[in-house]
Amino acid sequence: MGLTAPLSVAENGEISLPAPHVAGHVSIERALHARRSIREYAPGPLTLTHLSQVLSAAQGVTATDGFRTAPSAGALYPLEVYVVAGDVAELPQGIYRYRSQGHTLQRIAGGDSRPALMQAALGQPCIAQAAAVLLVVAVYERTTATYGTRGTRYVHMEAGHAAQNVYLKAVSLQLGTVAVGAFDDRSIKAVAALREEEQPLYLLPLGRKEH
Ligand SMILES: Cc1cc2nc3c(=O)[nH]c(=O)nc-3n(C[C@H](O)[C@H](O)[C@H](O)COP(=O)(O)O)c2cc1C
Repeated sequence: MGLTAPLSVAENGEISLPAPHVAGHVSIERALHARRSIREYAPGPLTLTHLSQVLSAAQGVTATDGFRTAPSAGALYPLEVYVVAGDVAELPQGIYRYRSQGHTLQRIAGGDSRPALMQAALGQPCIAQAAAVLLVVAVYERTTATYGTRGTRYVHMEAGHAAQNVYLKAVSLQLGTVAVGAFDDRSIKAVAALREEEQPLYLLPLGRKEH
C-alpha cells in the first residue's frame, strides 16, 4: 500500500493519481478509537499512493453518478481540495488542485509553499513540518444558490465530514494529521492563489506518524 507509484501525466498536464484502495488492514472501530490530532511528523516523504488515498477519503468519487466519499447537501459539492506538496515522492513541490472527477491533480504553482502557508496559519509549525498539506476550500454559492443562507451551515458541515474522513484514513495509513482552522483567510488565499469565490476552511497537514 505504501509503495512508490510512477507519475502519470495526461496530455492536458493533469497528473493521474493511483487508483485508491478500497480494502485495508485497519477496522473502522480501530481507526475511530485511535484517531488523534497529530502535530509532529517523522521525516521522510509521503508516497503518491498515500496522498491518493487521503484525497479520495476527502472528496473522492465513488459512484458512476458522481457521489463521493463524503456526504453533500443536495449532492451539490461545494468543497474544493488543494494539495500543498513539499515532500511527496514523485510529485514536484507545488500547489495542486484535486479533481474529484477523474482523480487527478492540476498544477497551480511550483515551489515549496509550506513556509508561507505556515506564516498564514499564525506560525503553526505542523504546517511547515508536514510532507504535504491539504487545503479545503468552500465555494458557498454552489450550495446557497439552492438552500439560501442555510446553505452556509451545510457547507461547514461538509468540511467536517471531509476532514473526519481524512483523519480516519490517516490512522489507517499510519500518517498523522490535524484539522487546522486558525489562520488568516486573506493570507491563505494569496499563498494558494485561490479564486475569488473560494474561501479557505481547513488546513490538514499530513506526515508520517512518529513511532
Ligand atoms: C474547527 C477546528 C479547528 C481546529 N483548529 C486547530 C488549529 O488551528 N490548530 C491545532 O493545532 N489544532 C486545531 N484543531 C484540533 C483540536 O485542537 C483538537 O481536535 C482537540 O485538541 C482535540 O484533540 P483530538 O483531535 O486529538 O481528539 C481544530 C479542531 C477543530 C474541530
